[in-house]
Amino acid sequence: MATLGVNVDHIATIRQARGGHEPDPVHAAALAEIAGAKGITAHLREDRRHIQDRDIYLLKQTVATHLNLEMAVTEEMVKLAVDVLPSMVTLVPEKRQELTTEGGLAVREHERELAKAIETFRNHNILVSLFIMPDLNDIKSAKRIGATHIELHTGPYSNAAAGAAQDEQLEQLKNAALFANRLGLHVNAGHGLNYQNVTAIARMNFIEELNIGHSIISRAALVGMDRAVRDIIAQF
Ligand code: PXP
Repeated sequence: MATLGVNVDHIATIRQARGGHEPDPVHAAALAEIAGAKGITAHLREDRRHIQDRDIYLLKQTVATHLNLEMAVTEEMVKLAVDVLPSMVTLVPEKRQELTTEGGLAVREHERELAKAIETFRNHNILVSLFIMPDLNDIKSAKRIGATHIELHTGPYSNAAAGAAQDEQLEQLKNAALFANRLGLHVNAGHGLNYQNVTAIARMNFIEELNIGHSIISRAALVGMDRAVRDIIAQF
């Protein structure tokens, strides 16, 4: 069965809404680990819309499981990752206007620049995961250019209507996980997973870690509401 990596980006989204200090993604990461998460993921975006540089440096010091830094392949981010030395980087495509990471990496189109970044990371003992669609050619290409891991994009599965459409997405993910495993790649998965759709992915052969953010942060806001209201009334 897969382990859980908690993506703390949206704790930072709430903080940035007021520009203050709370809630702190570093605190959320510690609580997630205490609850059983086996990894913490944070995406430092070029526009710094949620996670800030300070968060990444602090998470590097405080995360006791493993820190997975999600990032675009830009000179700035590669430099920062080599300075922070997270245990893993997950390379993702990034567009300024998108609400969240929309697609997987076009690995074959960008083999040369990806290979260069991967070499840099491997020279610094940083594991490298590529966020990709369940596409066998992209998986082959990921192996060829030296990635140690792939993260399969579960967005299309998560967005598919239950039934035949979702089953088809599941089948593609299964085939991709098997294919990647046969090539010797470690396989993670994530995007859009929630309390209703996660079980089939968590129990899929060869999937090692699931990176989940939005649904966990959303539920945390609701299941924490009762306690939070009681706590403030107690200060009256
Ligand atoms: N994996 C990757 C590569 C992502 O970009 C994201 C979103 O930041 C996630 C996993 C988590 O997705 P979600 O927030 O929908 O659980």
